Amino acid sequence: MNDPVKDDAERKQVTVLFADVSGSMDLAEQEDPEEWREIMQRFFALLAETVTRFEGTVDKFTGDGIMAIFGAPIAHEDHPRRACYAALQMLDDVAEYAAELRREKGLNFSTRIGINSGEVVAGAIGGGGGSAYTAIGHTVGLAQRMEALAEPGKAYLTESTAELAHGYLDLRDLGEFEIKGASRPVEVFELAGVGQARSRLDLARERGFSQFVGREGDIARLEEALARAKGGEANAVGVVAEPGIGKSRLYHEFAQRCRGEGLEVFEAQAQAHGKSIPFMPILQMLRSFYAIGDQDPEQMAREKIAGRSLLLDPAFADDLPLVFDFLGVPDPERPVPKMNPEGRGRALGDFLCRLVSNPARRKTLVLIVEDLHWIDEGSQMMLHGLIEGMGGTPTLVLVNYRPEHTPAWSESPVYETIDLQPLNRDDTAQLLCDIIGCDPSLDGIDEPIHERTGGNPFFIEEIVRELDESGYLEGERGTYRLAKPIEDAGVPVTVQAVLAARIDRLDSEAKHLLQVASVVGKEVSGEALQLTAGLGEDQQEAVLGALIDAGFLYEAELYPQRRFAFRHPLTREVAYGTQLASQREATHAAAARAMIELIPPERHDERAAQIADHLKQGGETLDAARWSARGAHWAGHSRPRDAMRLWHETMELAGRLEVDEESDALAIASRLAQIQFAWRVGMDLEEQALLLDEAEEIADRRGDLHSKVLVRMSASGRPGLQLHTDEWLSQVKEMTALSDQAGDPHLRVAIRAAGAYAYLIAADFGGFERALDEIVDLADGDITIGSGIILNTPLAWAEMGKGMARREQGDLEAAEAHFERSLEISVEADDPETASWVRSNQAGLMALRGDIEGALSVARRNCELTERIGDVFSRSLAIANLAWAHLAAEEFQEALDAIDEADRTYREAMGIGGEMEAWRSQLRARALAGVGRNEEAIAEAEWAVRTSEERGLYWSLPIALLALGRARHAAGRPGAVEALEEAERVARETNAITCLLDIEAQRELVAG
Ligand SMILES: Nc1ncnc2c1ncn2[C@@H]1O[C@H](COP(=O)(O)OP(=O)(O)OP(=O)(O)O)[C@@H](O)[C@H]1O
Ligand SMILES: [Mg+2]
Repeated sequence: MNDPVKDDAERKQVTVLFADVSGSMDLAEQEDPEEWREIMQRFFALLAETVTRFEGTVDKFTGDGIMAIFGAPIAHEDHPRRACYAALQMLDDVAEYAAELRREKGLNFSTRIGINSGEVVAGAIGGGGGSAYTAIGHTVGLAQRMEALAEPGKAYLTESTAELAHGYLDLRDLGEFEIKGASRPVEVFELAGVGQARSRLDLARERGFSQFVGREGDIARLEEALARAKGGEANAVGVVAEPGIGKSRLYHEFAQRCRGEGLEVFEAQAQAHGKSIPFMPILQMLRSFYAIGDQDPEQMAREKIAGRSLLLDPAFADDLPLVFDFLGVPDPERPVPKMNPEGRGRALGDFLCRLVSNPARRKTLVLIVEDLHWIDEGSQMMLHGLIEGMGGTPTLVLVNYRPEHTPAWSESPVYETIDLQPLNRDDTAQLLCDIIGCDPSLDGIDEPIHERTGGNPFFIEEIVRELDESGYLEGERGTYRLAKPIEDAGVPVTVQAVLAARIDRLDSEAKHLLQVASVVGKEVSGEALQLTAGLGEDQQEAVLGALIDAGFLYEAELYPQRRFAFRHPLTREVAYGTQLASQREATHAAAARAMIELIPPERHDERAAQIADHLKQGGETLDAARWSARGAHWAGHSRPRDAMRLWHETMELAGRLEVDEESDALAIASRLAQIQFAWRVGMDLEEQALLLDEAEEIADRRGDLHSKVLVRMSASGRPGLQLHTDEWLSQVKEMTALSDQAGDPHLRVAIRAAGAYAYLIAADFGGFERALDEIVDLADGDITIGSGIILNTPLAWAEMGKGMARREQGDLEAAEAHFERSLEISVEADDPETASWVRSNQAGLMALRGDIEGALSVARRNCELTERIGDVFSRSLAIANLAWAHLAAEEFQEALDAIDEADRTYREAMGIGGEMEAWRSQLRARALAGVGRNEEAIAEAEWAVRTSEERGLYWSLPIALLALGRARHAAGRPGAVEALEEAERVARETNAITCLLDIEAQRELVAG
């Protein structure tokens, strides 16, 4: 059951080529069918041979032509180029044969070719033994349309191919075409010939190199090797690294230095599609040695070859016919003696060796051969011979290749390798600064880019191009700005081609395991992988070893458990993306089951979110909803934002289920929970209303009183509403009665705990304490009672509330004891939220009692703690209390800054000021007065008074009036006495003794 469905089909990036022999139908009538068949056979053979030569696959014969795919089943990173080269070759071949037919039979043939690149699903199709490998998808259809569009004798390709082949091929833009079946116009190009670029680096050069960064150590090693070579100690260096790390660029920079010193540097490179073309790099090297240009007439080329060779050593005269022939400029007067290919290769190798090691050559020679992993056998042998034979001459041979290759001379004592490493963080940052610039909007962007690309400069450059093209970046190279937050930036096709080709070189088991790992996660345990992939232990070990050796995975952890991680996040993305959705789904489900089985049950909660995610992607919605709810519970008030996100997820999942008791329960619980987090971390008011309506509807439908009470309480009896306290209190009373009716002690406690707050805000301290006492009674020492329904630990909150009531009524010692007790309970209940409220209150109390330093330090620490929780309600409260401590310390500017931040924090998240806004406002008025901004202080205090009066916020009213009296007095404005008298009246009425003392002191000050 743990064996995910294994379908061999895959999503792949490929280039599709259609070629037909046009006009064929009319011609068929004129010809004898047998002869006709022979002609067509010959055409097909020409086309098919060319496809094979460029390592494409003939997908099918279409009757009058063929369909070929490049990049599948084996991925080639240069599939678009291969298809284009093949097309050019086909046009040539067909033209030649067509000319022959025209001459000999008067028949007119021509071919048309269409090319397109993109994603296909490729795999075996059909059944009953008749299945065949084929590619399916829109990409295929578009290639066929290109063929239909093409003029006879031409090859047309789409923008998708052009983007990848640009530079390597000469393309003529034909403009946009409306194509049937394509949603938007397609830009079409005609393939005109081969382009200038031969390597990725040529393309980069054409675009303008980015600044060369890092590599000091590597250059130093090359310099050492060069110094030895100059001293007559010929040697060779191989730079080894994965594609795009910068092998070519390093040599480019080094070659520039060498040329700058006046040394001779000759370069050659093996080509991806060139394995079947013998001696290509050697030829290239010799042409550059003899300075033969592409356009040089044969005679001139021969003169150059002869001139340079004979100048070195007249003995080379005997070799000239062979060299002329090899370089494609045979001398008609001096034909080469007949030789078998092996003998010829040996003779040439020998010549090369003598050429390089000739004592007449004094100048140091640097030979660079790139991309040995693509080199043909013959060239490899020649190079080997050269390295062995060059001893004692001033020669440095530099080669580079990818890690999967090992050159024939790897054991030679004159040979050393440099493992070129990815760029480090600083180099990446510097490179990015050069490519995208340093606009402030880009701050922090290098971190994720470095992480994602693993410091591969090619990937970095391509990712930036992708970000530019998909509108995340605005502006131009070197001066970009971030246009929108980067979320789902895809893998650039160029990068995908490179990585997919690497993955495809794995054998099928390793590839399968890599794909499974990519589904399981960035990091996977060996056991989870085994359970999910269904391989035997030994088999898995072997395959993992291969994946580690090939640099795909590494052992992230050995103990207590072996864990494997992807070396590059991009590889994971590509391995993930190449699988069919159905296969991925099965693997996700298997991964979830493996996690549930392997993770000890006591740790299920903390991994629940991850399990839920796998289940969701695995299409197991009900289980996903259950695990998501579990994860949300666990995140709870320690990580309210995660909890909110998971409850939202649970709601969405529940919404996809058929309606039954469980899905209803999940639907209600997830909505109520979100509302509980809404007043903590913020949520759009409309969205809240919608959630409540939906929850109420379900509760009504099910006749679920328990839920109904909670919904109603959430709608009108919770913090964060702009209600008048009369209305708030009446709701609280009604809900309390209803909860008693429902009877569940947890609910009764939860409703009382949430409702009690309304009494405090209304300064009904008696009512407040009564409600809290009821909680203490009902709890009977059980700290878990009613926990997490609305407030996290009602009992801790009851103790804290009692402390607040005592504080307001002047009994500071009792207040302190209650706070202590409350803190103990919250810590015991592992409830950082309530703990933070208690600490806020403790700081305020310390300030009241004159322990200014203590108040500041507790308040500061509390701010840090709440920041970590990420809960806006608690954080705003903590910062406001810090402001209070600053006021007590007469640090008015700090107080003002803090209160502004507290207010902004709250409003940004909630969109409104909440029930504490008047309280914060009076603090602000005091801070303003403190810094001498008296007029503003008066206006602020007036607002606090007005707001308190309008909404019945009697707890903050006397304090606000006190602040107003103070501010007016400080400004020498009238009305100070009146405000203080009114403050005193309200304070007496509400029995706010502590406040009253302050008011009286202030009245004396004003009177005195
Ligand atoms: N040190 C560097 N500083 C800045 N840019 C670099 C550096 N190294 C490489 N690049 C850039 O990264 C891109 C890829 O580099 P390069 O072509 O040298 O990779 P490679 O290792 O030769 O890859 P391949 O194996 O595909 O040939 C180029 O555009 C190059 O200019
Ligand atoms: Mg290279």
